[in-house]
Order: sequence, then C-alpha cells, then structure tokens
Amino acid sequence: MFVKNISLPVTVAVVLLTTAAAACSPGTCRVKDNCSTGRDCGAGLYCYSCEVGFPGSRCVRSKATNPFRILNKSVPLNKYAFLTTHNAFAIEGEPYHTGVPRITVTNQEDTVTQQLNNGVRALMLDTYDFEGDIWLCHSFGGRCHDFTALEPAIDTLREIEAFLSGNPSEIVTVILEDYVHTPNGLTKVFTEAGLMKFMFPLSKMPKNGQDWPLVSEMVANNQRLLVFTSIKSKESSEGIAYQWNYMVENQYGDDGMKAGECSNRGESSALNDKSKSLVLVNYFRSVPLKPMACVQNSGDLRDMLQTCYGAAGNRWANFVAVDFYKRSEGGGTFEATDMLNGELLCGCKDVHSCSAGSSCTVA
Ligand SMILES: *[C@@H]1O[C@H](CO)[C@@H](O)[C@H](O)[C@H]1NC(C)=O
Ligand SMILES: *[C@@H]1O[C@H](CO)[C@@H](O)[C@H](O)[C@H]1NC(C)=O
Repeated sequence: MFVKNISLPVTVAVVLLTTAAAACSPGTCRVKDNCSTGRDCGAGLYCYSCEVGFPGSRCVRSKATNPFRILNKSVPLNKYAFLTTHNAFAIEGEPYHTGVPRITVTNQEDTVTQQLNNGVRALMLDTYDFEGDIWLCHSFGGRCHDFTALEPAIDTLREIEAFLSGNPSEIVTVILEDYVHTPNGLTKVFTEAGLMKFMFPLSKMPKNGQDWPLVSEMVANNQRLLVFTSIKSKESSEGIAYQWNYMVENQYGDDGMKAGECSNRGESSALNDKSKSLVLVNYFRSVPLKPMACVQNSGDLRDMLQTCYGAAGNRWANFVAVDFYKRSEGGGTFEATDMLNGELLCGCKDVHSCSAGSSCTVA
C-alpha cells in the first residue's frame, strides 16, 4: 500500500523526464532544442554549447539560407544581404607556412571553402607583399612578418575559384585590407588563381547611388566576383574598385559595438550618404574573444543591424561582417542575414516569408 502510493508520482516523474529528454528524436531536433551530439540535430544545424549564453547544449544553425533560391534573381545586387567573414583567412589551426610559429589571433574556425559552402558570400582578406609574393597576414604597421603570415594569397584565391567554378549561380565578394604596393601585384595573383574570368568590371559599378545590375545578369555574364581594395589609387592604376567609392561602412572593432551607436569608419563617407549603394556593417571585437562570440552574434548583432539601418538613412546592411560566424545561441548570423534579406527583398522580417504565397506579402 505504502509502496503503491509513491510509485505513481515516481512513474509520472520518470515519464516526464524521459519525455523532456526525448523532445526530439535523433536527426530531427530543431534550432534551440537540446542535443547531446550533432547527430541529434536536423540538417543545417550542429550541437553547440555557449556557456555564457545558455546552459547545456543546443542545436544551432551552421548554414545560411540561399536567398537566390527563394526569389527569382531579377533583382539588383544591392537588394541582397551577404554574410561576411571578418579576417576570413585567420583560421585556427592553419599550419605554419614560414617555418616560424605564428603570433597572431584568429577570427574564424573553418576553411574558406567550408565558409563558402555554409553560405558565407563575402570574405575580408588582408593582403601584403611578403617574400616576393602576395600573402595573407594578420599583421601590423602595414608589413607582414614571418610570425604574422598566415598563407600565400594564391591558396585562398584558388579556393574561391573552385567555389565559383563549382557553383555557377553564386556571387562572391572579396573585401581587401590591402597593403600590397607591388605594381599590379593583386592583378597578377588573381590572374594566377584563375579568377579574372569571374571579375565583375569596374565600369559596371554604380558610382552615384544607382542600383547595381541584376543578379540574374551578373550570373548570365559570369561576372560573379566583386573585389574591393582599401587603396584608393588602385582604382585608376589597376582597375580595382576602391571600396568606399561604392560602400558605406560603420566603425569596426569595439567602437562599432557600442549599443545604440552606428557611425562611419574614417575612410567611409557618412552612413546616410546614398551616393554609395552598398552598406557594410561590422560587428566584432577589436580582439576576438571566442567564448563571447555566441552572444555577440545573436541578439546584440540584430540590435546593431537595426541601429545601423536608422543611421544609414533607413537602409539595411548588404554585408554583415562577423568573427566565428557559426557561434550563436540559435539562429545567430544566419538568422540576422535572413532578416536583412527579408527586409531588403520584400519588406518581411524573414526572407522565408518572401516566397510566393507567404503571409507577408511582397511590398
Ligand atoms: C535543456 O537543457 C537545459 C540544460 O541542461 C535544461 O535546463 C533544460 O530543462 C532542458 N530543456 C529540455 C526541454 O529538455
Ligand atoms: C522577379 O522578381 C521581381 C521582384 O519581385 C519582379 O519585379 C520581377 O518581375 C520578377 N521577374 C521574373 C522574370 O519573374
């Protein structure tokens, strides 16, 4: 009798616990569901623990939505948002290529090929003259050293070439923090990497705030690589677009993370200068702190995108640049990019609502 009386509550408790743990069966868990291994999570998700953001492990997103597949591509390029990796080349575990241990911080965790396969569509790369060649370095004072060199630029450019060749409907943007002073040094390395055939020509880039060409035209013409340099003179000397002739950009690093503030970095004109049709929002720390990235890339990032929308004269970002892009509390940078594409393409809060027949009607 005594035993019988307690067994019912115990049984109920056991059933409840079992139900909670089995809220989703392996391979079907969704964003923010608890997980114990990656196999629990559905497609496009991985099992991740963000100690500063939430207890335990959850399924979080690892792949971007492809907006080109949701709407027809007869839309100007500047009506899309692209997930952008800051220091895309400063990757943990990159082998030493100079024979000397590296003394630099890293900003990303997977290879440029993986970044592109996961839906990153813009890469920030730092290019330097080094050892008679062009290298990607995470350096200082405008010079690369053997302890700040990551890899020869050609290796990364070849990964981009392979991606563009293998994905003939995709467009990739490369934003260079450029310290190359060798005449035509960039042209030479882009040529060697086989990328010139994809280059979107400077002559077609709008200079006075007009729309960019349609994505469908860019794809049909196979002009699917945009390259911007931070060296102004290269626009006339080498035909490479000077970034801030076409784009406004907010402050980067800690100064760009002050809640409620969004102002232009020194080289960029004011964010509300509509003679530049593209808007870039940076959101990453001056010194990357990996354990914090999951919080930054979640709600904080969405708030900043909203702040910068106002600062840019009611324009949503086309590029959103982050560190450790897969780290989040759930949707992270991918959800933020879906929000931007939804707003840009159809005035909805999520790009998934832009497809025909959705409740958020196309504006
Ligand atoms: C998920 O895990 C956390 C932390 O272990 C726990 O607090 C929470 O109750 C769990 N939620 C579900 C629905 O199982
Ligand atoms: C593609 O979508 C745009 C924007 O919704 C629309 O204006 C255009 O007519 C569409 N084009 C085609 C070929 O369906």
